[in-house]
Amino acid sequence: MTFDTPINRFGTHCAKWDMMEKLYSLPASGGLAMWVADMDFRPPTCVQAAVDRMAAHGIYGYFGDDSKYLDGIQWWMATRHGWDVPRDAIFTTHGLVNGTGLVVDTFTAPGDAVVLLTPVYHAFARVIKAAGRGVTECPLAVVNGRHEMDFERWSSLLTGAEKMLILCSPHNPGGRVWTADELRGVADFCKRHDLLLVSDEIHHDLVYPGQRHVVMANAAPHIADRLIMMTAATKTFNIAGCHTGNVIIPDPDLRARFANRLTALGISANSFGMHMATAAYSPEGAVWLDGLMAYLDGNRRLFDAGIATIPGLTSMPLEATYLAWVDFAGTGMTAAEVIGRVETTAGIATNYGTPFGAGGETCLRFNLATPRAVVAEAVARLQSAFADLQ
Ligand SMILES: Cc1ncc(COP(=O)(O)O)c(C=O)c1O
Repeated sequence: MTFDTPINRFGTHCAKWDMMEKLYSLPASGGLAMWVADMDFRPPTCVQAAVDRMAAHGIYGYFGDDSKYLDGIQWWMATRHGWDVPRDAIFTTHGLVNGTGLVVDTFTAPGDAVVLLTPVYHAFARVIKAAGRGVTECPLAVVNGRHEMDFERWSSLLTGAEKMLILCSPHNPGGRVWTADELRGVADFCKRHDLLLVSDEIHHDLVYPGQRHVVMANAAPHIADRLIMMTAATKTFNIAGCHTGNVIIPDPDLRARFANRLTALGISANSFGMHMATAAYSPEGAVWLDGLMAYLDGNRRLFDAGIATIPGLTSMPLEATYLAWVDFAGTGMTAAEVIGRVETTAGIATNYGTPFGAGGETCLRFNLATPRAVVAEAVARLQSAFADLQ
């Protein structure tokens, strides 16, 4: 297990590197892809072995019998998260953007609104708006350089059209691991305003040493009748291309409505995703994950130390995720000027803050899940691009 080894991803039809020239005008030679959230690392060998077994067999028919897959989820959630997941609560979707679209489609109607705690993962708003629903942005507060809940303010922002709140836990971007009290606060807010609570926990394994993620189902069992959980092995093990995720619904009535919607839309399992996730949710996967988090811990420290040397830039201290959130407000520059320096001068492709919603306007998101030498190179380029501020 060596995360330092560079792996050339060009020419593999991967979004992160192969779309960089088209989207950012950054060439294969010299550009650094630090945008979309996948990692430049191979998954654990148990996952590769599962794919090798499929390839060796050579027949790629429909998937059936998800018993081992469900065993894997139950084992993983119990051992890593202390969460007892009922088997019949688990639905498999084509990833969690798909899961988001499906819950919005099933449990809200056109004209309804969905609450987002911004800045937050940009695909939420994209999916909600494309489905003809509104987005009610409730901005997170920034206190001592990190995101915090702001319930009092949020209550005054609701219009009455809201039927659902989508939480990102841990939070992307900014990497907060919400405390049990904060999670109960969100649950109570949803109860008070009669909102379904969708807790997207795709980043819940990517938590740094010293932090403890609490699953919403454990933090707030009293709102199980309005709770929808979303999890996946894909972000944890860098297998997002297999597009497999879980929507987990404790309440039987909500479950029946969702099951019906999946049938109506003909959603069924992707064989590759089922085999890969089953292999990943294993003791070998757990060892690999611990090694990954130790490595990413080094990357985030290196990056933050470098950003701290550039006046006007601040990087939120990540408690989870490999997605650094850098605020450039302190430079007094416009977003266009900062993007020009980061992209054109430093040659780094990042995610722009504005699509993440209110609070993201002066930020850029950097993906640190890449060999450490790439992070070091990015830091050096940023220091040089902003050298006049020293
Ligand atoms: C919070 C969150 N949900 C969902 C996704 C994407 O999920 P999927 O690849 O399963 O569609 C991401 C990707 O970064 C994410 O950050």
